[in-house]
Amino acid sequence: MSKKVVLSGSRPTGNIHLGNYFGALENWVRLQDDYDCHFFIADWHALTTGYDDTKSLYKNTVSLMADFLASGLDPAKSTLFLQSLVPSHAELYLLLSMITPLSWLERCPTYKDMMANMGEKDIATHGFLGYPVLQAADILMYKADFVPVGEDQVPHLEMSREIARRFNFLYEKDVFPEPQPLLTKSKVLPGTDGRKMSKSYGNTIALADTPEEVSKKVMSMITDPARIRKDDPGHPEVCTVFAFHKIFSEDEVGDIEEQCRKGEIGCVACKRKLQEKMARFHTPIFEKRQKLLENESELLDIIRDGSERAKVKADQTMAEVRKAVRIGI
Ligand code: TRP
Ligand code: SF4
Repeated sequence: MSKKVVLSGSRPTGNIHLGNYFGALENWVRLQDDYDCHFFIADWHALTTGYDDTKSLYKNTVSLMADFLASGLDPAKSTLFLQSLVPSHAELYLLLSMITPLSWLERCPTYKDMMANMGEKDIATHGFLGYPVLQAADILMYKADFVPVGEDQVPHLEMSREIARRFNFLYEKDVFPEPQPLLTKSKVLPGTDGRKMSKSYGNTIALADTPEEVSKKVMSMITDPARIRKDDPGHPEVCTVFAFHKIFSEDEVGDIEEQCRKGEIGCVACKRKLQEKMARFHTPIFEKRQKLLENESELLDIIRDGSERAKVKADQTMAEVRKAVRIGI
């Protein structure tokens, strides 16, 4: 039996941080052995909000591929590609846009949210409104069965299913299967200030941060404010350092909790321990990333090769799609 198809993508908007890693990438890496996986860099999607500043697009694209590979995505197992190198995504997007009611897009919660929160920036564009249609094209192009995404993307996936259903109904052909979300329980890591890790809060630890930067960020983390002296009993549940230990020090987290509650370990010692544990995880990824970026032409070849492979499947789907729509001669 052939493997089920998985597809997911990420916009090249800057360096992948540990929140992205544990929220998505770690899970993608695990899926590679059991599914026919497609992971791509959604550069056209980056334009929906960043159309006016494309200076960093190239750098971010190459660096996202380095993040992918350093995290363990493997071009020998998965199809890793760049959206804009598979231009059929734009053709499918156009055809799907013909059949997508405007009301579906206008009531999309992510659209309403972003419109309300973008402030000064003008994102009242055709392209931004069409974001979920482009995403549906990405997913349906490869007839994905499963799409590993975070909760925030569930409305988009629901719309992809509705668009698939509508296409199959209108053209009386079962061209597209309905993609299901793959919501795996992922580890949640707060930012260095205890809030959600997010670039806009400036509280991230990136795969691209140097080991020195990571150590510094650990030292600056907020601990239990009730601990003034090192033998004061602590409350690990309010401490950011402890939230990190839960992920990086699985073998010792019970001991750390007990020592903290009893006031037997000081916060500085506790942070030093975390620095060590995090370095063991982060430094190898960082070094692999650096090495990949030193040889940019090889990275570009990986992007091009993967995109060529994606194209083969995209061409097959588009032939079916055109036939179903009866467009062309
Ligand atoms: N919208 C996704 C995000 O912001 C990126 C994305 C684009 C995507 N196309 C996709 C994710 C298709 C899954 C499937 O993270
Ligand atoms: Fe946090 Fe560790 Fe200090 Fe306890 S000892 S408050 S877990 S840093």
